[in-house]
Amino acid sequence: MKKFSAAVVGLGYWGPNILRNVIEIDEFKDVYCCDLDRSRLEMINKRFQFTKLEDNFDYILNNSDIKYVFISTPPITHYKLAKKAMENGKNVYIEKPMTTSSGEAKELIGIAKKNSVKLMVGHTFEFSPAVEKIGELIGKGVLGDLYFISMSRINLGIHQKDISVIWDLAPHDFSILFKLLNENPYKISAFSNSFVKESLKDVAFINIRFKSGIIANINVSWLSPNKVRETIIVGKKKMLIYNDTHSDEKIKIFDKGVDLVRDPENFGEYQLTYRTGNIVSPFLETTEPLKLAIKHFIDSVDNDFEPKTDGYCGLRVVKAVEAAERSSERDGEVIVIDDWK
Ligand SMILES: NC(=O)c1ccc[n+]([C@@H]2O[C@H](COP(=O)([O-])OP(=O)(O)OC[C@H]3O[C@@H](n4cnc5c(N)ncnc54)[C@H](O)[C@@H]3O)[C@@H](O)[C@H]2O)c1
Repeated sequence: MKKFSAAVVGLGYWGPNILRNVIEIDEFKDVYCCDLDRSRLEMINKRFQFTKLEDNFDYILNNSDIKYVFISTPPITHYKLAKKAMENGKNVYIEKPMTTSSGEAKELIGIAKKNSVKLMVGHTFEFSPAVEKIGELIGKGVLGDLYFISMSRINLGIHQKDISVIWDLAPHDFSILFKLLNENPYKISAFSNSFVKESLKDVAFINIRFKSGIIANINVSWLSPNKVRETIIVGKKKMLIYNDTHSDEKIKIFDKGVDLVRDPENFGEYQLTYRTGNIVSPFLETTEPLKLAIKHFIDSVDNDFEPKTDGYCGLRVVKAVEAAERSSERDGEVIVIDDWK
């Protein structure tokens, strides 16, 4: 017997993907769809059967059957909607970026605690089997000590109306990066520009330094002739490319590297030897990351544990985005982040 209901709030581009997974997981008595825009609700009505349509968020708040709320509205609205939902006893899954300021993110963490509800941020890629596998490989030392990570998330569009490309796309790479390294960044600097629409940055180059010595670079852009979703990881022993646009062989591990060896012929001198060996592509499960994330959220509520991508993960990403934005507004000034709480 299904006891509780769920609501998906915001059914624009991304919300229908959440809704589809919530329906497929089939854990709920009823699934409510809430959007201010009636035309979105009409569209949902045609595409998905058995959902309940609602354009008034207060109805969701006042319905005690609804225990799980998925927020997929524009980032600027996240704080207000999540706050109200949690104050009304709802467990909240909120899309990335968690909020548009770290102050708001901190407040949401406090509100979740105060109301004893779960707060999870939709850092979908952290649930991707490819990212999980890379984390496992790094953890087992397969790549050796890491040197650097280079990430690209570029395509032609979709230009957002109210947030920069840094707020829109970089949360994905920041969340992947922090999960893989299990380390908070120390210094961030960025250059960005607004080419198409004044004051809406559409390309950014972000540099990150970690205290461990690892450096990283993230290129995000809505202005590119091709779609690239690529992460290159270079370690002392091996190198890896993760290409998320590939349907198979998303990860390739290259037995490549450069070693500095003492030259026996010339005592005291060193020479470089280049290694080029096998390329291996590990098997990956094909389960949709969003489904895994949503299941994890439901599980965290039902079994009372903190979700992997909790409010602190969300806050860390928001802080990194804020630092990249601040740096790019100060012509690439290096921003040092010491306080992660
Ligand atoms: N995890 C991912 O991979 C991923 C991918 C894409 C988008 N997103 C995130 O999902 C969120 C939504 O993005 P999108 O591209 O679908 O945006 P969108 O603009 O296409 O859709 C937002 C919808 O929310 C509705 N809405 C706005 N304010 C509302 C309110 N107060 N109450 C109810 N409905 C409201 C709008 O009418 C619209 O239908 C963003 O936070 C975005 O960053 C995540």
